[in-house]
Parts: sequence; structure tokens; C-alpha cells
Amino acid sequence: MTSASAPGKIILFGEHAVVYGRPALAVPVAQLHADVEVSDSSKDGIWIDAPDINLHAELKSLPSNHPLAAVIDKFFTLLSSPHFRKTKMGGQRGVEIKIISTIPVASGLGSGAAVSVALIRALSSHLSRPMTNEQVNALAYEIEKIHHGTPSGIDNTVITYAKPVFFVKGQPIETFRVGKPFTIVIGNTGISAPTKEAVGDVRVLWEADKARWEKVFDKIGEIAEKAKERIENGEWELIGDLMNQNHALLQEMTVSSPELDRLVSAALKAGALGAKMSGGGRGGNMIALVRPETAEAVSRLLKEASAKNTIITSIHP
Ligand code: PMV
Repeated sequence: MTSASAPGKIILFGEHAVVYGRPALAVPVAQLHADVEVSDSSKDGIWIDAPDINLHAELKSLPSNHPLAAVIDKFFTLLSSPHFRKTKMGGQRGVEIKIISTIPVASGLGSGAAVSVALIRALSSHLSRPMTNEQVNALAYEIEKIHHGTPSGIDNTVITYAKPVFFVKGQPIETFRVGKPFTIVIGNTGISAPTKEAVGDVRVLWEADKARWEKVFDKIGEIAEKAKERIENGEWELIGDLMNQNHALLQEMTVSSPELDRLVSAALKAGALGAKMSGGGRGGNMIALVRPETAEAVSRLLKEASAKNTIITSIHP
């Protein structure tokens, strides 16, 4: 049996504007992870067992655009070895793929990309076909297109490299240094919201008034640049205000929601230094920057303001 794991992620700054070429900052969240085990089976065929999404099926029974089927198909296409697949995976020897994930789906925490990355790595190690991070990342990006339509690539990148990433679409991977650890409380609205829709709605706004939205994206890009500098200098107390500014711009883009806004206000009232939605928006998660000693109080108040659950995480150098 072989196994692989990949972390969840949060976007600290720059979601949506990143689709239009502005920089964004994302960090892995190790408490959240997708784990994949691949083992030989006496049964013929490739079997997928994903209890979290209630799926137990043979690969060939899934539609070809199902993200899990697509990861496996694209994996074999990359190896350019249909024969390999037939003899080793579909023929005499069957394979069982078990997927367990603690990352809530459709909530901006990178569940789709984490499952793809863990699955690609588990398959590549089970079949002794080592892959570079670049290959894993490129393949996971192809699957993100099924999940998201026109993804920037930020999710698969931060999850593949499992390091803080300063991401600019189409540019070489740039990781960044965390000068001093800082604490984030993640609050989940419990509302699953497909990123694809929010991204599509922003595109409609942008098509209708490019000049206006390009300016908004510029402001978000500048915020992300400043935040990176402050985090690298260990001045994390100074990024709270930048988070609030970024949230206001996301509200203007219509991708926040009453539930996200309520959690953001509750966090600020409870003493957070800054707060914003994180990810595609309309539901999913928000994040609050806190001093470690106020983390529990912020988490409690988020729950009182109807957060379905909260996670306290620290971002380390
Ligand atoms: O997967 P999510 O919900 O964290 O969203 C990704 C961030 C977006 O900027 C909204 C989309 C993208 O592809 O970058």
C-alpha cells in the first residue's frame, strides 16, 4: 500500500483579482488535509472509495468529467502509457483507492486541489513513476479547470508546494518568508458556494466596466504586495488593516455575503486585528488575524454569530 497527503489552504490576500494577473498570498493549513491510499486488490478494475462524499464506485462507471476520474485519466495520459494502465491497473491486477479528507468541500479551503495532489502523488508512488512538483502542480491545475472554470492556479500551487506562496498567474513559483509566526482564526459559514459561480459573476462585472474593475484589482494587488512585505518583516500586527481593506473591495465585487459579513464583524468586535472573507466567497470561510491570547474569544464569538465551526491555526516561518 502507498499513501500520500496534501494540506488545505487559505488565501490571505488577493482572491479574485489574482484571476486578472494581480498577486495573491496563500498559505497551507496543515490541520486540514486530504489523504489517499492506493493498494492492490484482488478485484479487477480501479475502485474508488471516498466515504466523505459517499462515493464507492469503479472508475469506469464515473463520467469522464468527474474530477476524480479526470485526475486518474490525466495521470495516465501524462505517463503516456495506456498500455501501462491496461495491464497494471485495469487488467489482472485491480487497485483500490481510498480518499479521506478533513477539508470541507466548496468552502474556499482547497479541498479539490488537495485531493488531486494527494491522489497524483499516491498513484505515482504506487506505480513507481516519480513525478516532480512541477508535474504534480501542472496536472492538478488541469483538474482545477474542471472545478473552477478559469482558475488562477493559486490553490494547486500552494497545496503542491505546501509553503506560503506569493502567486502571480503565469509566473514562476515564488514562496515567501514568514518573519514571525501569527495566528489566524478560520470561521466557516457552513454554506457551500461554488467558486466557479463567483468567478463567473466577477467576469460579468468586469466585461461591463473594465476600467472600474481594473482599478479595484490594482488596489487589491497593492494590498497583497504590502502584506507580503509586512509578513516577511515579522510585522504581522500591521496586516489587520490590510485585511479589512481587502474585504471591503471584495464586498464591492459582490462576492461577500451577509453571512460572511456577519462573521467578519463579529471577529472584529471580539478583538481581531483584521478580518476578511477567504477564497471564492458567497459562503465558505472567512479569516481573522488575532493575537494568540484572543484566539479562543474570537472563535467563541464567531460560533455565537452562527459560524458552523472554527479552526485556530498558526502560520509559521
Ligand atoms: O478555491 P477558492 O474558493 O479558494 O477560490 C480560489 C480563489 C479565486 O481567486 C476566487 C479563484 C482563483 O482561481 O484564483
